[in-house]
Amino acid sequence: MQKMIDKINKLKKEKNAVILAHFYQPDEIQKVADFVGDSLDLSRKAADCDADIIIFCGVHFMAGSAKILSPGKTVMIPEINAGCPMADMVTAEDIKALRKEHPNAAVVAYVNSSVEVKAECDICCTSSNAIKIVNSLPNDEIIFVPDKNLGSFVARFTDKKVIFFSGYCPVHNRIKMDDIKKAREAHPGVEILVHPECPAEVVAAADFAGSTAQIIDYASSSDKSEFVIGTEHGVLYPLEKKNPDKKFYMLAENFTCRDMKKTELSDVLECLETGKNEIEIDEEIRKKAESSLVRMLEIK
Ligand code: 13P
Ligand code: SF4
Repeated sequence: MQKMIDKINKLKKEKNAVILAHFYQPDEIQKVADFVGDSLDLSRKAADCDADIIIFCGVHFMAGSAKILSPGKTVMIPEINAGCPMADMVTAEDIKALRKEHPNAAVVAYVNSSVEVKAECDICCTSSNAIKIVNSLPNDEIIFVPDKNLGSFVARFTDKKVIFFSGYCPVHNRIKMDDIKKAREAHPGVEILVHPECPAEVVAAADFAGSTAQIIDYASSSDKSEFVIGTEHGVLYPLEKKNPDKKFYMLAENFTCRDMKKTELSDVLECLETGKNEIEIDEEIRKKAESSLVRMLEIK
């Protein structure tokens, strides 16, 4: 494995490439990455970095956002079949139909969505800025797609009427109140930190809800020494690295996003060697999707 890592590091320098990775990526991918972050920080990084090539270790919509924001760069995804099932649950046609039903509503699309959906919405959001984005809009009604759970979370923190869609993350949506009950019994007094993609009742019963980066920051800056973690288990790698003296327990067993785990070091190397799996987006759609992402990034 070390040989492969050495080759990756050498080629990265020669080609002025940068490796961006999400916190759910396998440990060895996070180790080799130049920057690891949540969806929001990764899109900022993709927009700002001065590399010629971005190797995006994550799922398709994330590499897509990088290409939308950095059209002049070569963006590659090591595993072409790493998708996000939630992103496939809403289409641009769904948004058009919802707009007809609710003509005064603004459409907010979670970045876990296709390029076409981003092109059709008014503004994007991630799990770390969704509340801020919704509250920044002048409209009293908001159509929120695709995640019903993140939508419900946002609705708790706004006076606006939120019109939900039916999408969900299969990895987070299977978490049950029973998991919270069992964790409270097994770890009395320990705070439970969850991702807002978990079902609304689970999020309401937890002690903190936030994006992957917000969960990591919360646990790292707390003076408590134990936490129950309610999101994909890849976050354990940065959590344990940053907090070697703290203990982390998973809220549920097999809390794994299979798509996020498809990335292999050999694929990263192959991208650098052969330029495989380059992301390409039709320029007209890209421009429209870019406006929705840039609008989001402008809201601090
Ligand atoms: P973050 O924005 O928290 O990184 O989450 C992305 C994601 O896909 C969660 O399932
Ligand atoms: Fe998509 Fe869920 Fe995997 Fe995140 S954890 S990438 S929302 S399937």
